[in-house]
Amino acid sequence: MWFLYGPPTSNPFGRENEVNSLLALMKNGQPVGLIGPRRIGKTSIILASLKKVPLPYAYISAEEFVRGEKGFNFAEFLSAYVSKLTYSIYAHAGYRGQIQRAMDMTKGYVKQLRDLIGMVKVSFNIPELTGLMEVILDKSEKNKDLSEEFSRVLDLPEVLAERFEIQRIIFVVDEFQYLKLARQAVPEIFHVMRSKWQFHRKVSYVISGSATGMLEELINSRSQPFYQFFYMTRITPFARDVSKEFLRTGFEAENLRVREEELDTIVDYVDGFPAWLNLVGIKMVVERRSVSEVLQSLPEDENVITALEGDLRKLSSFAKSVLKAMCKLGGEARPKDLGDDQWAVTRALQQLMRFGYVEREERGVYRVVDPMVVHYLQSR
Ligand SMILES: Nc1ncnc2c1ncn2[C@@H]1O[C@H](COP(=O)(O)OP(=O)(O)O)[C@@H](O)[C@H]1O
Ligand SMILES: [Mg+2]
Repeated sequence: MWFLYGPPTSNPFGRENEVNSLLALMKNGQPVGLIGPRRIGKTSIILASLKKVPLPYAYISAEEFVRGEKGFNFAEFLSAYVSKLTYSIYAHAGYRGQIQRAMDMTKGYVKQLRDLIGMVKVSFNIPELTGLMEVILDKSEKNKDLSEEFSRVLDLPEVLAERFEIQRIIFVVDEFQYLKLARQAVPEIFHVMRSKWQFHRKVSYVISGSATGMLEELINSRSQPFYQFFYMTRITPFARDVSKEFLRTGFEAENLRVREEELDTIVDYVDGFPAWLNLVGIKMVVERRSVSEVLQSLPEDENVITALEGDLRKLSSFAKSVLKAMCKLGGEARPKDLGDDQWAVTRALQQLMRFGYVEREERGVYRVVDPMVVHYLQSR
C-alpha cells in the first residue's frame, strides 16, 4: 500500500530537497543536525540519504538505550557503536554476507559484539579494534566503568577509515539528546564527544532529535560543548499542496474516490505531519468510512493512543495538565491563561518546549506543535 504507518521509510515523499542537501553535507564532511517534532519524518530523511550515499555508514538511535525514566544502558550503546561501525566497514568491503549472521539483532548488542569479535580476528588484523572489543566485553560483563573505552570507541571511525583507506564514513546518532541520560556512565559525555569528533577528518557526523528544546539547548548555548558545531536544519510539516498530493496519489492507487474538499479537511485536521497523513490514509482504505468519520475516530484510535501516551509518559503530571489546558484552549495560549501560579506554569512550559511539544511564538503566545496532540487531549 502507498500508506505506511509506524516504521520510518527510506523512500519519503516530497522530501527530495531535504534528502539531497543532507546527502551533499554528508559527503562533504559537514556535521549536520536535524531538528523537528516527533513523526515529522527526520529518520526517514536520514535513511533516504544513507541509501544514496556511496560511503560506509553507521546509524544508531540513542533512544534505543533509554531504560525507564532516567536510565541508559551504556554497555549496550557502546557495543552497538562498535558493532555497527564494524558492520559498515565489512559491508563496504563486500563482506556483507559473512557478517550478517553475527548481526542478529534479537540478542542485543553486547552479545552481537561477542559474535563479531571472532570473525574480525579471522578476517582482519586490527588489534585496535579487537583489543577494544575484548575490553568492552570484559568490562560489560563485570559491570565496570566504561568511560575510558568510550574515548577509544569514539576514535574508532577515524582509525578504521584511515586503516581501510576509506574516504569518509558517515556516522548517525538519532535522538541524540537522550545521550544526556548516559551521564551516569560518562559525566562529561558531550564534552568528551566534542573533543574527539572535532578532530575527525574522515567521519561525517549526523545527529537528529525530536525533543527540540533539549537539542537546541545542547547546540545553541555557549556553555555547551556542541555549541555551533553542527549545521542545523529544521524539518517542518509538508506544505498543504504536498500533503494533498501525497493523499491524492495514495487514494488513486487504491481506487478510492476522495473529493478535493475532503483532502483539505484531512490536512486541516492533521496538518502536514506525514505519520498522521499515512494513518488517515490507511484508515480510509481499510475502513471505507467517510473522511469525517475517520477523523472523528482518530483520538480513540489504538495507534494514536499508543503513540501519544508513550511520549506523554515522559512529562511531569503538571506539565501534562498545562499541555491539556493549552489543547482545550485550541492549541494556543498565553501563560496567564494556563493557571494562577505563573512560576509553575513557566516551568511546565519550559518542560513542554524541551520535549518538543510546544513552541514559543511571537508576542508571548505558546503553541502546541502537533495537531494530533491537540485533538487527543481535547477529547480527554
Ligand atoms: N516524506 C514521507 N513520506 C511518506 N511517509 C513518511 C514521510 N516522512 C515520514 N513518513 C512516515 O511517517 C512516520 C514518521 O516518520 P519518521 O521518519 O519516523 O519521523 P521522525 O524520525 O521525525 O519521528 C513513519 O511511519 C514514516 O514512514
Ligand atoms: Mg525518528
